[in-house]
Formats: sequence, C-alpha cells, structure tokens
Amino acid sequence: MLAIGIDIGGMSIKIGFVNERGEITHRFRMAVLKGVSQGQIMKELGDLVNAEIEDAGLHYSDFIGVGVGCPGSINTLTGRCDFSPNLDWHDLDIVGMLSSSIGLPVRIANDANAAMLGEAMFGAGKDFKNLVLLTLGTGVGGGVYIDGKLFEGNEGKGGEVGHTIIRLGGRQCSCGLRGCFETYASASALIADTKKAMKKNKDSKMWDYVHGNIDTVNGATAFECAKLGDQTAMEVVENYEMWLTYGIVNFCNIFRPDAVILGGGISGQKEYLTRPIEEKLAELHYGFPMTPKVRILVSKLGNDAGILGAASLAFEKVQNQ
Ligand code: BGC
Repeated sequence: MLAIGIDIGGMSIKIGFVNERGEITHRFRMAVLKGVSQGQIMKELGDLVNAEIEDAGLHYSDFIGVGVGCPGSINTLTGRCDFSPNLDWHDLDIVGMLSSSIGLPVRIANDANAAMLGEAMFGAGKDFKNLVLLTLGTGVGGGVYIDGKLFEGNEGKGGEVGHTIIRLGGRQCSCGLRGCFETYASASALIADTKKAMKKNKDSKMWDYVHGNIDTVNGATAFECAKLGDQTAMEVVENYEMWLTYGIVNFCNIFRPDAVILGGGISGQKEYLTRPIEEKLAELHYGFPMTPKVRILVSKLGNDAGILGAASLAFEKVQNQ
C-alpha cells in the first residue's frame, strides 16, 4: 500500500508517493506562487495529484490515504488551516477540498508535528518512545512524541515549542508576541545574527566566504567560517548554540525525552551542531538533578522529512483505526 505525503512550504509544495517502508517511490512538486489565491492553490494541488496518479499508472485503490503537513495553526478536528503566518493563509479547508478532489481519506497536521511522526516511524526516532523534534528553518517547528505516540494537543495545535518565550520583551516574532524561541534559534535568526556580526567586523573571514556579498549569507556561513577559526564566526555560532541549548533544557524538563532530534538545513552541520549542545546539556545536568541523559540527534530523513512525515499521518491513522 502507498500513502501520498504532501509537504506544504512557503515556496513550494512537495509531494511523494510513499510505501510502508518509508521509501518515496515517486515524487513531484508544485510552486507556491505569490498572488495566487489559497483556494486556487488547493484546486491545482488536487488536480496535480490526480494527474500524477494516472501518469504513474496507479489506481486509487493502491493508496491508503493522503497526509498533509502544513505550517501554522492547523485544526486537526476540522481539517482546516486556521492561520499560517508564513504562507498568509486563513481559514482554508484543506482536508475538505483535497478529499473531494482526490477522493481518498485525508489527514492533516502541523508540518513539524508530521515531521516528528515521520522521524519516529522511519527516521532518527525509530528506537525511542519519548522525543522532541525541532526543525530549524524560517521558523522553528516543534513536534512532541510521548509514550510512543504523537502528541497533538487541543485541536492538534500543540507542540509549538518554537513559540515558547525565552526572553521577556525579546525579539519580535511573526506570531505577534516577543521573545519566542524561534526568533533566536531559527535559521533566519542565525542568518540575521551572522550579517549583524559581519557588519561590525569587516575583517571577518566570512566576507571572503560570501565573496563580499552579504546577501548570500546562509545558515552555513558562520558554521563553515568557525571551522576555519574565524573569531567572529565562532562567536556567532556559540551565541546561536547557547540559545538553542537553553531552549532544549526547557523542553528536557517538560517532556524528559530520550532524545531531541534537530531537523532543517542547519542540522546538516551534524556533530558541529550536536556536540557542543550535548556537552552544555551535560553541564546543566539535563535541566534537573538526577535526570537521564538526553541525546541530541540530527534528522535522518533530511529533505524528505516533510513528505515522509505527511505520509506517516496517513499510515498512522490506518494503524490506529
Ligand atoms: C510556525 C510553525 C511551523 C514552523 C515550521 C513556525 O514559524 O509557527 O507552525 O511548524 O514555523 O514551519
């Protein structure tokens, strides 16, 4: 049996046909163009999925269902995207529209909640029962897995650890509040902090790294130059990891996970990211005396975490029925 995993992002929607072993057997994508209405995007998405099923020579009976991961405030009871600041979508009936156009059962979840389930089913979380996932991207997505089950909370809107406030009156967040974890620990925050440090330190190696063009700074710039021993870059990375670690300490105390999985582009830094956090966490005795070690892992599903996470929603629904 196959599931259709739909990973909705700010620039594009990635879709995959996924088998029960978590392998993507067919993949395609659709651009999310500015100025196209949210309803039109859903219509085009449904039409595209139908066309791809036909082109691949498959039948609707080959599919168990469709899973959708979408950023923002997703109501899993109504199947609607109530609000997605990153996409500027409001009150969109995603499950209603896709289930009537595709004709298969559709389950939706917040993108990071879906990615959490995907890691637990097919990725770095396979061997654990208690997990927290952080996706370090434009924002910080959060997913929580408790006692072998995805925790979704009321209306499925739980797990938004990126919006826990770690600094009173701190940086302005897209959610409207200030001082959210994601304003310090997202890739966007790292990029902004890197640029700020570069402007202050004109002799930083980071300028050579980006060939003098600050607009090309990305989430890897500071990490790569820190590896070359550049002092400014090292400070940017240390500061970034400090915020990340203190956020993680809070999540350790609340959820006491076996492991925290880091996803998103920055997780490509692997042990350069995880080792300092693990060391600092050990120094902080994982947030509370006499509590067990919390491992820091990177996503195994990488760029496919969104598609596989979404597909896992469809598989899990069937398992639990
Ligand atoms: C949103 C979350 C989302 C995360 C990752 C945050 O800005 O508020 O809902 O999971 O970005 O896309």
